Amino acid sequence: MIERAVVPGPAPGREPAADTVPEDAAHIRPASRLRGELRMPGDKSISHRALLLAALARGESRIVGAGDGADVRSTAGIVAMLGATVVRERETGRTVDYRVVSPGIDGLVEPADVLDCGNSATSLRLAAGVLAGMPVTAVLTGDASLRRRPVARIIEPLRSMGAVLHARRNDSLPPVTVVGRTPLRAIEADMAVPSAQVKSAILLAGLRADGRTTVREPVPTRDHTERMLRARGVPVERIVDEGPPGGPVAWRIEGRVDVRAVTEAVPGDVSAAAFWLVAAAIHPDAELRLSGVGVNPSRRAVLDHLRRMGAAIEEIPERPDDGVGEPTATITVRSSRLEGIELGPTDVAASIDEIPILCLAATQAHGLTLIRGARELRHKESDRLAGIVTGLLAVGASIEATGDDLLIEGPTPLHGAEADSLDDHRLAMTFAIAGLIASGETIVLRPHSADISYPGFFGDLEAVRA
Ligand code: S3P
Repeated sequence: MIERAVVPGPAPGREPAADTVPEDAAHIRPASRLRGELRMPGDKSISHRALLLAALARGESRIVGAGDGADVRSTAGIVAMLGATVVRERETGRTVDYRVVSPGIDGLVEPADVLDCGNSATSLRLAAGVLAGMPVTAVLTGDASLRRRPVARIIEPLRSMGAVLHARRNDSLPPVTVVGRTPLRAIEADMAVPSAQVKSAILLAGLRADGRTTVREPVPTRDHTERMLRARGVPVERIVDEGPPGGPVAWRIEGRVDVRAVTEAVPGDVSAAAFWLVAAAIHPDAELRLSGVGVNPSRRAVLDHLRRMGAAIEEIPERPDDGVGEPTATITVRSSRLEGIELGPTDVAASIDEIPILCLAATQAHGLTLIRGARELRHKESDRLAGIVTGLLAVGASIEATGDDLLIEGPTPLHGAEADSLDDHRLAMTFAIAGLIASGETIVLRPHSADISYPGFFGDLEAVRA
């Protein structure tokens, strides 16, 4: 057993995982068949939240099977800088078990240095929500990509709760300085863009507010924070508005309630699983099995979109959904004949991280795929709307972006070419999967970024090509 304390200090950066991540380009040859059983890294979104909530809870929390990508490590570094003891106990290369011992929210300390969030917007935005309610001054920053990502969306609501925040470029870009305050004012926030990160920042600040804070989202986004707060004894209520499913939803949190320390098992990351779901569905001779995958209703849209496209996906439930914990399933996927699909803004919000790999699926689907209202993709680790179009065009796809929409015509045979990940993990993995069905050699530039969410991805790619 490995026992290693996370030392307070800058986040550990982005060393490639110890497996087969190549230097500056990954050369991918087509696979004659795909077979195997894989275990995904722990869900990135849940792992960030588990670490931050462990910092807020007094006593010992255990996080079993957290994702061990660079983003989650950034959050572990932040939690250590706030004065909690973070111990890495069991490492598998993909996952790590953490033991976090915290003095609780009132015992946390002002960080002695800037908080380095690396590439991780989730670390930055959620930590801002926590810091807003603490009597400290802290600076949140990150790598060049993170310093291009919008923060006005968190600054505005956290300011209206009484914290003082400033950021570069007229309060729009990191670094962000947070001067927190206890207690905060409870607010009713209306979010302009669907964002689970913004919703979570407001809920985490709401924990430190006098009274009840309400946050309304235009369309539903992932609800991990809400479930995890409930599981730790904090009342969080879902207020369903009238109207069709997929419409606006509001959440209300009770302030000044203690967060309980718990042990939580993190499910496999469905956003990582999505790469294999598509790989098998578009490959002519494939069968892959993925066990322990998180199938939370607010995260599983990629499975449903692919099924609607005709993907042969079987799902055997493991952990059931009790509305508080996280349901899981074993998923088997086989070679499929896919059809084009139309996805609107609600679908996009529900599968925001899977749009790049869904675009690859669409290149192999019969007919047109239209993805409407994908503007938020421009504000991810790269401008993903531009990056996906450039990369897939390079390998022979028929794809265009018009405004915030994507139009893809299929099926098109893909051919090897250079595709640039733009240092964006989801683009790197999408282009690597394209290489499994493209003729010749596909060269993915800057593949290291896969380690952000999926350490071991290139090892798994080699393992399943039989
Ligand atoms: C995340 C929310 C999404 C997603 C990101 C993780 C989260 O971002 O793209 O990878 O854990 O809350 P937005 O909330 O900005 O859409």
